[in-house]
Amino acid sequence: MPMNIELMFPVAVAVADFDPPVRDVTHAKVMKYIATEAAKRDVTASPVESVETSFFSGKSVLEDAGLTELKANIIAAGETFLQWFGVPPTPLEIERSWINIFRPGMQEMQHAHEGSVLSGSYYVEAPEHCGDLIFQDPIGERRCHRAFTNTGVKTPQTVTEMSYPPQPGRFIMFESWMQHAVLGNKSGKIRISIAVNLRKKQ
Ligand SMILES: [Fe+2]
Repeated sequence: MPMNIELMFPVAVAVADFDPPVRDVTHAKVMKYIATEAAKRDVTASPVESVETSFFSGKSVLEDAGLTELKANIIAAGETFLQWFGVPPTPLEIERSWINIFRPGMQEMQHAHEGSVLSGSYYVEAPEHCGDLIFQDPIGERRCHRAFTNTGVKTPQTVTEMSYPPQPGRFIMFESWMQHAVLGNKSGKIRISIAVNLRKKQ
């Protein structure tokens, strides 16, 4: 019996490990930035979350911390990711960038980054068990057939959520509309990430 199964409306998450020199220089610059008066002013406790972030400062941490290597790698990764969509080569730019500091016990509830094309998180400090990045199946209607697919066998077609443990030097990127959350930091150490929104170059 000939049968063709087609993949429709796929959802992709891109995982890029930047080269060790980029990882190391970024780490050094971020640690230096955190100690500055500017960071003490701009990185503040979120009004609704436990995370400490520069998101509400409206400033660009890629610029303020001089993260030129990281910025170039993020834009290149975004442009490469867009090729997966089959669209013509499209130059991207950073729409917004901010730093997130998760001290032990901190977490971030589910949210999306509306208004951008791609979003991502780069990990500067990511000790073991510091909080996975979690994506829930965005197709809510699929819940009606979980009774059939909940077999204990996890495939991309049956899981209800995907979990990505962070790792230093790793950049995880997704379409900005995708709901995501950060699990609690149970490492006992600090977790530092740089978050970005990417848009079409204007
Ligand atoms: Fe986010």
